[in-house]
Amino acid sequence: MNIVVLCGGLSPERNVSLTTGAKVQNALVERGHHAIMADLFMGMELDRTPEEAFAMATEPAEVAAIAEAVPDLEAVKQSRKGGTGLFGENIIKLCRYADVVFMALHGGDGENGRIQAAFDIMGIRYTGSGYLGSAVAMNKSMTKQAFLSDGILTPKGLRLKKGCDAAGICDAEGLSLPMVVKPCSGGSSIGVFIVNTADEFRNAVDEAFKYEEEILVEEYIKGRELTCGILGGRPLPPVEIIPKEGWYDYKNKYQPGMTVELCPAPITPDEEAAIRDATLAAFKSLRLEGYARMDFILTEDGRPYCLEANTLPGMTPVSLIPQEAAAVGMSYGELCEEIISLAFNKGE
Ligand SMILES: Nc1ncnc2c1ncn2[C@@H]1O[C@H](COP(=O)(O)OP(=O)(O)O)[C@@H](O)[C@H]1O
Ligand SMILES: [Mg+2]
Repeated sequence: MNIVVLCGGLSPERNVSLTTGAKVQNALVERGHHAIMADLFMGMELDRTPEEAFAMATEPAEVAAIAEAVPDLEAVKQSRKGGTGLFGENIIKLCRYADVVFMALHGGDGENGRIQAAFDIMGIRYTGSGYLGSAVAMNKSMTKQAFLSDGILTPKGLRLKKGCDAAGICDAEGLSLPMVVKPCSGGSSIGVFIVNTADEFRNAVDEAFKYEEEILVEEYIKGRELTCGILGGRPLPPVEIIPKEGWYDYKNKYQPGMTVELCPAPITPDEEAAIRDATLAAFKSLRLEGYARMDFILTEDGRPYCLEANTLPGMTPVSLIPQEAAAVGMSYGELCEEIISLAFNKGE
């Protein structure tokens, strides 16, 4: 098959995506596909036809480690030569020619449904969720509303607009410390703060508003952290996440060795069933397709609070979905292949 592995882009998770993209491209080439890793925003020079480019796309791309810092997106913007809007040079041309586009983008415009909507209009086949599910899942406040209306347990939360009296609103609504402050459409724990004091709360609100005009403030749920992938409508075994220090922030997510991940998670059969049921319910509630990964906090009394859904979960060497797939005997390459085959059966 001719496949574009689309990655990079202009989101703060750009570097994570470049690593996912290279890993996926390597796996697909190894399995005999003709796969081109392409940076959505930067595009690529093409001195041959797409047909010729795919014919030559049999070499693995280099897999780079994820830099510890979030990338300087202004510098990325400045360094581009050609392209239209978010689409770098030749991206649309290559995607149109491909049998399928493997969406290796994370965060921002790769994950929020805008690229998916553009591809629908252009008749380009892609992996994962469509535009609507992607858009709703990208916004943690909209996600919460969908969860509440479908009876899915989620932390109590409030959406705040820039300039509001954040502390006053939380008081009035009975939301008290400790709390979690996060941008509505963020990812990778960027801009997420766990706060214990009024001072910390004020600073966190100011910081979170640097990312977006709307933020979410949630009750802090004390418990174990778990995440559960779902592939083709079937939940995978949950993983328990135990950061060696602190909480599951950007560094602990992407620097190898910072976090202990136990898969399958050492939880009771009842707890596992509750997490799998909630994962499937969340998948349906948000109208997701193909695959996804839901994040949970499991309380001591066995109740899983769903924090959010990730519609394009990481596929880096330290990512969670590949570990969950391995626990059911599925290799990384088979997982990529399955994600692609689900893209050919959408809506069935
Ligand atoms: N309500 C909460 N209670 C406890 N911990 C939370 C809560 N919300 C977020 N966290 C912590 O912050 C991390 C990131 O939050 P999450 O909502 O999953 O956003 P992101 O899209 O950045 O992953 C979680 O993995 C968890 O460690
Ligand atoms: Mg998360």
